Amino acid sequence: MSKTTVVSRLPSVYCSKSLKEFLAPQLAEVRVRMEEALRSDVGLLGRTNASVLASGGKMIRPAMALLIAGACGNLSEDSYRFAAATELLHNATLMHDDVVDSAGERRGQPTVSSILGAGPAVLLGDYWLVKAMGLILSSERSTLRAVGVFSKTLSDLAEGELLQMELSASALTRWEDYRRIVYCKTASLFEAAAVSAAISAGAAEEVIDAIGRFGSLCGLAFQIRDDIFDYVGTPSIGKPVGIDLKEGKITAPLLAALDEAPSEEASVREKVRRLGSEPGLAAEIREFALSHRGIEGAEAKIVENLENAVKALSILPDSREKSYLSELARHIGERTT
Ligand code: IPE
Ligand code: IPE
Ligand code: MG
Ligand code: MG
Repeated sequence: MSKTTVVSRLPSVYCSKSLKEFLAPQLAEVRVRMEEALRSDVGLLGRTNASVLASGGKMIRPAMALLIAGACGNLSEDSYRFAAATELLHNATLMHDDVVDSAGERRGQPTVSSILGAGPAVLLGDYWLVKAMGLILSSERSTLRAVGVFSKTLSDLAEGELLQMELSASALTRWEDYRRIVYCKTASLFEAAAVSAAISAGAAEEVIDAIGRFGSLCGLAFQIRDDIFDYVGTPSIGKPVGIDLKEGKITAPLLAALDEAPSEEASVREKVRRLGSEPGLAAEIREFALSHRGIEGAEAKIVENLENAVKALSILPDSREKSYLSELARHIGERTT
């Protein structure tokens, strides 16, 4: 993939041209490592890998990781390996997630599971996941520590997806459950990207801690924005809207609306429970969330998380990369893709 294509895939309008240009050659290096790691002479695997790679993705986690390694003063070969591993893992979890969610579309394209079926999609996700671990194992420094960081994330991901499934069946999700789900299924991988980048740069322990907090808070904000998209989708998001609600998932916009209208809580939760047999109720629940300031409430959570994320950066010395990290955090709050 050319550098120009990599640049055009980077986060949209809120990301400056100078950040995109700064990151383009580094992200192209990440792509090379991903392609090398995935190489296979099994035709079906090679073709499917190529089509997933071509469908792109924003590469926001490796972008964050590379900026962190640079801001810690040492963008090393291990930084590239961990950044590539993070993006491989991310794609693996998307392939698995699309099976779990029976999703037909991602990045504006049909999902692997909708073309090949759930079985091959799970196997392909496993393949990407193991190749990510292979890259981590090939690191020069702190290999065992990095394996530990990413293994924890993989266990968080599975727990997050299963906890979400369990709670959607009962419609009992509250803020603290939602926060745990979002941490496990999304923020934990942002945290791993951030922590592994700081480790790859040989950062001090207190820096690794603060940077982990930055990654995790950005990840929470990122998923809340994604959950808002499920209520008020944009055409550029490349995946269908209204899916979460249809599956009974209670996310930030509905929780925020329930805070505003506590007297309606029992009846709204009852409607969520009945969604399986009465799908028409989804429109009513959505309307309730929109008319009780659900989007505004969810956006306030994004702002709070990102303000704290940017505070965590104060441990780093001033640098171009540090300013770009603040810009990236701002973009996460305002993104439209
Ligand atoms: C999608 O992540 C899954 C979530 C955590 C919401 P991204 O929006 O980063 O996916 P791509 O890689 O850019 O398609
Ligand atoms: C995102 O889950 C986190 C993953 C485990 C991939 P979602 O189901 O909310 O993400 P999308 O909407 O499919 O991208
Ligand atoms: Mg999904
Ligand atoms: Mg999901």
